[in-house]
Amino acid sequence: MKLSRRRFLAGSGATVAGAGAALVWSPAQASESNPQPGKVMLDYPQTTISKAGDLKVGQPVSFSYPDTSSPCALVKTGRKTQGGIGPDEDIVAYSILCTHMGCPVNYSAEERTFKCPCHFSVFDSELNGQMVSGQATENLPRILLSYRDSDDSIEAVGVEGLIYGRQANILPSA
Ligand code: FES
Repeated sequence: MKLSRRRFLAGSGATVAGAGAALVWSPAQASESNPQPGKVMLDYPQTTISKAGDLKVGQPVSFSYPDTSSPCALVKTGRKTQGGIGPDEDIVAYSILCTHMGCPVNYSAEERTFKCPCHFSVFDSELNGQMVSGQATENLPRILLSYRDSDDSIEAVGVEGLIYGRQANILPSA
């Protein structure tokens, strides 16, 4: 995967899970000309989700990533957020499949959390999807984002954490 210098990768150095391996990812490591010994790069797609200017605070935008069977939500929290991108550094995204048993979670704009309607787990959208309470034991997988200021676009470029129900975030092609 190639990332231009202009791209800002939120959470560079984050752990990316999948394909049975955890790895540390930074833009420099993403260069094909600079492979890291012992590291395996997952072939995540780069998927344009939205323009930052089109987002409204507290109103999530649904998308799928890294494939159509993985529902996610893009959220503008309205205040500078850990790992947030965009002009206000307040845009984050997560898989919406609860890490307990896979129910779709809902975003609460008032609390800036994701809540699971099945067994009431709560995840903090401002703390990398950290599990706050409930039955889940894992954080909500975070979608790694890239912001391009030249056209205000937001792209999904990777996943931090394992999407519920998968052994690897990238499914083998049929
Ligand atoms: S499926 Fe979400 S808490 Fe059980």
